[in-house]
Amino acid sequence: MGQKATNVHWHTGVVSQQDRAAILGQCGATLWFTGLSGSGKSTVAVALEHALAKRGKLSYRLDGDNIRLGINNNLGFSAEDRTENIRRVGEISKLMVDAGVIVLSSFISPYAEDRDTVRTLHHDSDMEFIEIFVDCPLSAAEARDPKGLYKKARAGEIKQFTGIDAPYEAPAKPELHLHSDQQSLATEVDLILNLLIEKGLLSCPTISDLSAQISTLPEGSNA
Ligand code: ADX
Repeated sequence: MGQKATNVHWHTGVVSQQDRAAILGQCGATLWFTGLSGSGKSTVAVALEHALAKRGKLSYRLDGDNIRLGINNNLGFSAEDRTENIRRVGEISKLMVDAGVIVLSSFISPYAEDRDTVRTLHHDSDMEFIEIFVDCPLSAAEARDPKGLYKKARAGEIKQFTGIDAPYEAPAKPELHLHSDQQSLATEVDLILNLLIEKGLLSCPTISDLSAQISTLPEGSNA
């Protein structure tokens, strides 16, 4: 669904995304983890969040199960609902990048088109979007079955389960392709950190990068 409300316009403030980055000493970005249920998306996001925190970087995890317990609790697992799930999470991720956060979004996000929409949403606002494919063969994810859901899906107790009776479209060109059945968690985290360093995302903007506009603004100014 496109824009429904008419006569609405984006309201710009005087503090920019770059100013917030300078205040926080970091650049916001979305790291988008995609893969089958049980592939290890959330596990690597948790470990990465810890590694970033140790380097003084603020990240925040958005996770399929958690988000579906709250803001997206009115969505199920039909193709339409999954698309809407990813659309909303894409918008939330973008807002959080604008705020200066390194967003770790872990969703099966089975449809390439939905992931590309989120990528475009970020790129249109000059924001970093890094797609990380947490690749794990179905047989390995099913053998792990951390939540017992594959067993239920095979028994027909859960319908439209990704990999069983619902599709998963693997990314054609992810920024990073992990193999969670072969690589250790530490290796996965290192690969991601190296990519962030390569892209300059862990080098800090400084407080001297604050725009002149802010420093010259009188206290309490509404300008
Ligand atoms: S997505 O397809 O819309 O991206 P999302 O990542 O939010 O899915 O949620 C996936 C999680 O919901 C799974 O890890 C699993 O715990 C749970 N789940 C429950 N039912 C299903 C289902 N039919 N297919 C996939 N995951 C399901």
